[in-house]
Amino acid sequence: MKYLIIYAHPNPKSFNAAIKEQVVSYLKSKGKEVVVRDLYQLGFNPTLSGNDFAQFLQGQIPLDIKKEQELIGEADTLIIIHPIWWFNLPAILKGYIDRVFSHGFAYKFADGEIKGLLTGKNVIIINTTGGPQENYENFGYKDALKLTICNGIFAFCGMSVKSHKFFYAVPTVSNDARTKMLEEIKALDF
Ligand SMILES: Cc1cc2nc3c(=O)[nH]c(=O)nc-3n(C[C@H](O)[C@H](O)[C@H](O)COP(=O)(O)O)c2cc1C
Repeated sequence: MKYLIIYAHPNPKSFNAAIKEQVVSYLKSKGKEVVVRDLYQLGFNPTLSGNDFAQFLQGQIPLDIKKEQELIGEADTLIIIHPIWWFNLPAILKGYIDRVFSHGFAYKFADGEIKGLLTGKNVIIINTTGGPQENYENFGYKDALKLTICNGIFAFCGMSVKSHKFFYAVPTVSNDARTKMLEEIKALDF
């Protein structure tokens, strides 16, 4: 079982970084194979450009996209770790999806239908928020994010979403609460 972590946070001292480290050490302690793609550290280019489209039209894949697609191809489970920024993905991760989850790799249009091509792969999403759980649950933000991220991206591409975990109000809760959040990671169904 191979795990590919796609991680988007620019600050190595962030809580998201602690989550990423916790996931890596937990999976390694279980003898699992883990690859981490730290999008900021890689300097991943998130702009889907005219040049990308020109290459796609010629049946070619830009090298940086090809590398990421190969890693996804080798993985059984993708683990996506990121903060919620403006009720969405950080732009670098959105751009990774734009460019790497391309037509012909992640999905295709065929016979008047849209077909997901990443069937057989699982995904686990771990998000942190600044806002409290009540706001996310009472005002529909959680449902909206599940709809757009789980369904709109990953299930659309044929993947099976095993869990979408939220850690709420991360900047304002106590250190003890944050420590408990990190402990909760071990209970996720990897
Ligand atoms: C650019 C930016 C946009 C943000 N937008 C939201 C938001 O829409 N909703 C929310 O709950 N928190 C928002 N936050 C707060 C972050 O989600 C929160 O600080 C982060 O999840 C905490 O994890 P960290 O310590 O690893 O950064 C935003 C933070 C930044 C920097």
